[in-house]
Amino acid sequence: MKIPFNIFNSFYLNNKEEISKLSDEILQSGNYIRGKKTDELEQELKKLTGRKYSLLTSSCTDALFLSLKAAGIKRGDEVIVTGFSYIASLSPILMCDAIPVFVDICENDLMANFDEIENNITEKTKAIIFVQLFGNIRNLAKLEITARDKDITLIEDSAQALGSKYENNAGGSFGDISCISFDPTKVVSAFGTGGVVLTDNVEVYNQLRKLVHHGRNENSEFEILGYNSKIPELNCGLISMQIKEIDNYINKVNQLADHYYKKLENISSVQIIIPDDRCISNHHKLVIRIKNRDKLKNHLKECGIATKIHYPVLLSDHPLLKDYKFRKSSLKNAQNASQSVLSLPIYPELSVNEIDYICQNISDYYNNQE
Ligand SMILES: Cc1ncc(COP(=O)(O)O)c(C=O)c1O
Repeated sequence: MKIPFNIFNSFYLNNKEEISKLSDEILQSGNYIRGKKTDELEQELKKLTGRKYSLLTSSCTDALFLSLKAAGIKRGDEVIVTGFSYIASLSPILMCDAIPVFVDICENDLMANFDEIENNITEKTKAIIFVQLFGNIRNLAKLEITARDKDITLIEDSAQALGSKYENNAGGSFGDISCISFDPTKVVSAFGTGGVVLTDNVEVYNQLRKLVHHGRNENSEFEILGYNSKIPELNCGLISMQIKEIDNYINKVNQLADHYYKKLENISSVQIIIPDDRCISNHHKLVIRIKNRDKLKNHLKECGIATKIHYPVLLSDHPLLKDYKFRKSSLKNAQNASQSVLSLPIYPELSVNEIDYICQNISDYYNNQE
């Protein structure tokens, strides 16, 4: 059996005709940026997250960077961020010449520990980037209060959280600003890259509208130093098509995740990162923690099963940081996680038989060790 980690072209293959029609319509229109499809998608994302304002960008990395800019983050300001995430949660901080302050994670969900965040706030702290990880989401209400009291901008890096919910709150609805990714690994993706910034703050939104378009204001004057961060109209149409199907997608992957949990629960060497029971996860990733991770990964590879490690290196340990100032507290839990996590395949096309095969091979591996 051969089980890939992701299948990127399934949406295209399953919807070829409709996609061709849509592409033809958009390409014929000659309207390739900021047309009707872009407006429609921004409306849909507001509806999905309950936010007042939505602005599409070229990527979530851009969305995070521009959000920090819109929040006025500048050289020497401190920005608190988890030690355990993808590089894009960090690089926008460095691009603002700000100082990242890395904090440790909780062992159960691998997301930043609230107490650690609070303990690391200083008078220089101007923003917190809270990363919602793997589709599971935290309720950030407590952090929102702290941030408001201390005049700190709370940015939700919800790159991985589109469609997830914590009770009635959607991924992308917490904090002052949320940023979501549409890169091809995400549950809803552009045919290329894309991102969105969501906020309820009109001033932030107005500033962002200038920043994504060379700093241009409503009178077409280039008022501030800006960037060029837009998403093609064609991608907006394709993303909207997928958003219409997002509930089906999430139901399907939740059923698959439940099947995984039932099977993996019986293997004592495996700890599963299970979403909080108040959360409906989009299951962007299905992550387990194990001993001898690299050996198990190799064993699964030999059995034809592709897996990945999210994340093998702590944000504070990337070589690029040698050129930057940063601060970090003890990252013991993050360090342990980076050495023990393994992401297993999960996507709607995965069959129950394939999950059985994956779990059987994990079980066999540990049985042979004992
Ligand atoms: C946690 C996190 N933040 C930010 C990003 C950046 O997203 P993009 O690739 O759209 O720039 C990603 C993408 O993988 C991510 O996983």
